[in-house]
Amino acid sequence: MSAEIGPPLALLAELTHRCPLRCPYCSNPLALERASAELDEAGWRRVLSEAAALGVLQVHFSGGEPLVRRDLAALVRHAAVAGLYSNLITSGVLLDRARLDELVEAGLEHVQLSFQDAEPASADRIAGLADAHRRKLAAAALVREAGLPLTVNAVMHRQNLERLPEMIALALALGAKRLEVAHVQYYGWALANRRALLPTVEQLERASALVEDARVRLKGVLVIDYVVPDYYARRPKACMGGWGRQFLNVSPAGTVLPCHAAESLPGFDFPSVRSASLADIWYRSDAFNRYRGTSWMPDPCRSCDRREIDWGGCRCQAFALTGDAGRTDPACALAPDRGLLDAARQDAAAPPGEFVYRQIGAVAEAR
Ligand code: SF4
Ligand code: FES
Repeated sequence: MSAEIGPPLALLAELTHRCPLRCPYCSNPLALERASAELDEAGWRRVLSEAAALGVLQVHFSGGEPLVRRDLAALVRHAAVAGLYSNLITSGVLLDRARLDELVEAGLEHVQLSFQDAEPASADRIAGLADAHRRKLAAAALVREAGLPLTVNAVMHRQNLERLPEMIALALALGAKRLEVAHVQYYGWALANRRALLPTVEQLERASALVEDARVRLKGVLVIDYVVPDYYARRPKACMGGWGRQFLNVSPAGTVLPCHAAESLPGFDFPSVRSASLADIWYRSDAFNRYRGTSWMPDPCRSCDRREIDWGGCRCQAFALTGDAGRTDPACALAPDRGLLDAARQDAAAPPGEFVYRQIGAVAEAR
């Protein structure tokens, strides 16, 4: 297996699960790591050095909120010296000029800033934090003043999709070069909040047409990436570009995962950077090899001509919906479990449930 596999392209460094926001679609696991479990600065420096030696080109500093870590600039500097391109994925609410200057001086090259809505009161309600939207606007202005390229991440769902035109206008007004219109994907906190978040098919169709139109209208001004919700797709996405093919995810405690949601999968003993090298983990661990390539695939994937395009979809979604990570992702219309999505889509016709906000120690039971 390892002979066919090249090095990973990118490292997602989840420095912490701590975050001032409480978004109900957070991609972090329901069992959030506490600060006391986090890798220290020396541990993260070693991860960055090993990633560069392994052939990784980019590091995405993420969380939780990576700005919670006081050693962030030191880690950005270490990444730059190691030859890694550094991207910061942040909510922006903790960013001020001094902090940004420190990061730019350390070698930060790109910022991805999330927005919950274009309408302040709704944005603050979804974020679970008063005044969050105003602080994000201020952070975006600082990023542009510093001359860094800005990507706006707009996570869209039933409760903000009607304001997609305003979100596009906001990205333009902020001087973003790229806008990610990402429909919520349903695992972790988002799965617990599916009833509150899943859009209707009519909402989705309007949004897709709007994005198509904006892409043409704004060609050369704003690049718009569009992630359709799997629940309405006919074929799944190649989640993470295929299991163990392009990405390494290191959790706050140092666990190495093929994707941010993999810790939800039972029957795995995910390796840790505390006891193994990234190269060993990438090429030789059972966790990374289990769903690599096509030999693990059941029918219909096994004989499908898309098996090396979407790699059978998302393992975490297959597990979340069927209880078995080795089944075909129900996002595929050919999957034997496709009916599970039909049932879930009924949720979108019902009144939205209350949010279960992300927090350490919360019991998510709204599914
Ligand atoms: Fe992809 Fe499997 Fe569906 Fe084929 S059957 S499109 S490989 S998920
Ligand atoms: Fe884990 Fe898709 S999120 S494989």
